[in-house]
Amino acid sequence: MLRHALEAQGHHVVEAKDQPEAVQRLKDSPCAVVLSDLRLPDGDGFGVLNAAKDVDPELPVIVMTAFGGIQDAVRAMQAGAMDFLAKPVDPAHLLLLVERALAQRRLIGEYMLLKEELAARRGAPTIIGEAASMKQLSLAVQRAATTHATVLIEGESGTGKELFARAVHALSERADAPFVAINCAAIPEGLLEAELFGYERGAFTGATQRKPGKFELANRGTLFLDEIGELPMPLQGKILRALEERTFDRLGGTSSIKVDVRIVAATNRHLKQAVAARQFREDLYFRLSVFPITVPPLRERREDIPILARHFIEKDCRAQGRKLLALSPTAMEALREYRWPGNVRELQNCLERAVILSEGDTIYPKHLNLVAEDFTRAANPLAHLDLSGSLATVTQRAVMEVERQAIREALAESNGDLARAADRLQIGYKVLTSKMKALGM
Ligand SMILES: Nc1ncnc2c1ncn2[C@@H]1O[C@H](COP(=O)(O)OP(=O)(O)OP(=O)(O)O)[C@@H](O)[C@H]1O
Ligand SMILES: [Mg+2]
Repeated sequence: MLRHALEAQGHHVVEAKDQPEAVQRLKDSPCAVVLSDLRLPDGDGFGVLNAAKDVDPELPVIVMTAFGGIQDAVRAMQAGAMDFLAKPVDPAHLLLLVERALAQRRLIGEYMLLKEELAARRGAPTIIGEAASMKQLSLAVQRAATTHATVLIEGESGTGKELFARAVHALSERADAPFVAINCAAIPEGLLEAELFGYERGAFTGATQRKPGKFELANRGTLFLDEIGELPMPLQGKILRALEERTFDRLGGTSSIKVDVRIVAATNRHLKQAVAARQFREDLYFRLSVFPITVPPLRERREDIPILARHFIEKDCRAQGRKLLALSPTAMEALREYRWPGNVRELQNCLERAVILSEGDTIYPKHLNLVAEDFTRAANPLAHLDLSGSLATVTQRAVMEVERQAIREALAESNGDLARAADRLQIGYKVLTSKMKALGM
């Protein structure tokens, strides 16, 4: 009856007959709400409640109690149940509670995201990285933050330049003043000057009102000039003056305006080369690079890939209201081996897609959609195999390697449970243990 009522409203229902089965179902398929009777043939509703909270502390659980079982209901609520239903269950009441639980869960997810976003805007952003180069970088950022010096951040696309720019601001004494960003590559050349310096009413056709520029808006704070390498030559001169004299003119203005801004600039071009190619003013380059910071590409700090990956998966799972997904060992390996031309941003996008694509509780290589040619190893999966000796020897070596990998994967997926691993591999338990012995596992 409950299933029927829920399905009629478009919900997808997974059933379990007792506590052990419920625990298994919870592990197998992510769900948004748990509905459990307190009395079960095997185990009880409290066990289901605990298992649900283990999977996801935010998972709403509604318990059903017999008429008059109010003490049990209170106890369940104390143990973390969201609400209770007295039997016989009224379908309308049931649907109401389920809808409310779903709404609450969505809100929690959104709340966590907003909280993070706010923290990222206000406080120092979360920068993940344990590679030696990243630790050095974070020291450099802290040192830069205590000065008023102009900071130039160089790095490939998606390495986290903006993140570091925000960190410089958040760690500086200007943290309470605005951080204003402008992307010099995204704004048409004709509008860029007006955006940067503002304009007076009547400065040009369409300027019906005075408008402050980014330099003014960032007063006492930080102005982030993103993609500064794309700045057109004529504007380079005007920026240089603004940097040197801390004054500028609004378009159509008659007197100069004085501002107090710290400049952080970023570029994914080698600005020095642009200078050599006469596309960038040398004097501006020297002005900007008082405190240069270079963010290394992701492929040069592969040890950070696993922690970054887990961080993004956690974030996406929470955003989508799903329980935390695991990464299979082969998927992790694929992530570590890939070249990541788009760096951290590409990794982030790749995992976001993987979280959407994966139906179960694990992300496998097929969900990652990485281009095979780009694997350093998968381009030739045999590259690491020793191909010396007779054909029989080589074949045997290859078979052993494949078996070892498959067993490792199956074991990881069943949390080291040998019986379940044997099931997954469709071999007997004894065959598995003797194979492992033979393979020296
Ligand atoms: N070390 C890191 N820890 C956590 N998140 C990171 C890290 N590095 C980058 N990111 C995330 O990756 C994404 C890209 O970073 P960001 O926008 O700062 O890169 P960028 O260098 O400015 O890229 P582009 O040159 O394309 O503008 C952002 O969502 C950022 O939050
Ligand atoms: Mg950027």
